[in-house]
Amino acid sequence: MTGIISRAMDKVRLLRNSTPKNAERIGDYEREWDRYAENWKIWKKTKYAGLTHVGDEWIEKDAGAASSLNEFQSLIETSFINPYIAAQDDVLEIGVGGGNTSQLLLKHCRNLICADISSEMLKATRNRLGTKRVSYVKLDGLAFTGIKPASADVCFTFATLVHLEPRDIFNYLTLIPTVLKGKRLCILHHANVLSDRGWQLFLREWKDNLMGQRCGAPFSVMTDGIMERFLTHLGYEIILKDTQSLPRDCVWICKAPHSESVSTR
Ligand SMILES: C[S@@+](CC[C@H](N)C(=O)[O-])C[C@H]1O[C@@H](n2cnc3c(N)ncnc32)[C@H](O)[C@@H]1O
Repeated sequence: MTGIISRAMDKVRLLRNSTPKNAERIGDYEREWDRYAENWKIWKKTKYAGLTHVGDEWIEKDAGAASSLNEFQSLIETSFINPYIAAQDDVLEIGVGGGNTSQLLLKHCRNLICADISSEMLKATRNRLGTKRVSYVKLDGLAFTGIKPASADVCFTFATLVHLEPRDIFNYLTLIPTVLKGKRLCILHHANVLSDRGWQLFLREWKDNLMGQRCGAPFSVMTDGIMERFLTHLGYEIILKDTQSLPRDCVWICKAPHSESVSTR
């Protein structure tokens, strides 16, 4: 036992000593995004002066999607909200940031459930959107405790799965069916390292994310092929695969299975 502990300590020491700068920055999803929201209070006076809400800087420019906030919002509304979300739909959004995509969803749906792993991000979105037709759920990254079963017609997640490791994405895909009802539609955006832009990003980030550790909020080593395997294994009905709107990434429109029919084996 002592041997195991001392070997583990050696490993931690090795990591700290070999990459001291990175070791300080190793985090998990929750800590990293809380930290981002906290830092943004300084950045809004410096590098993001002129922006109003945390996340207004996420316009997916590097993904090849847009070059301004207006252009990004118009893409989201035109391609991923208008065709799929109706006024009577209840929508679950996973990963809300400062509410940029949430405020677009809220214009088009009946009720919006904002779910996020970061309390700071949820706070920012609550300050922006309030509580009329909007509820807020703090996730732990493992289960959907706090989201009522069969409470949403649509599950929407944008710019969030791009940062989740494949197994975490698979886990969420096993949970989504339990909280859907009605048309059970999903709009799922994730990273694709096999695209040209995705591969360039992988090359920029790999060195900072060794030894099974994540440094900051890197993009996940995810591909469209892995996602297709996840979706088909779990019984999702694929309606559309879009690799054009954000050429670095991939967006799927699909119908979730009923939870009784999901096999995780
Ligand atoms: C880049 S932001 C995107 C926010 C928003 N959809 C947008 O496009 O502006 C990613 C969000 O996902 C949240 N997030 C990260 N990991 C998560 C996880 N495992 N489960 C739920 N939310 C997560 C972060 O806290 C952050 O608010």
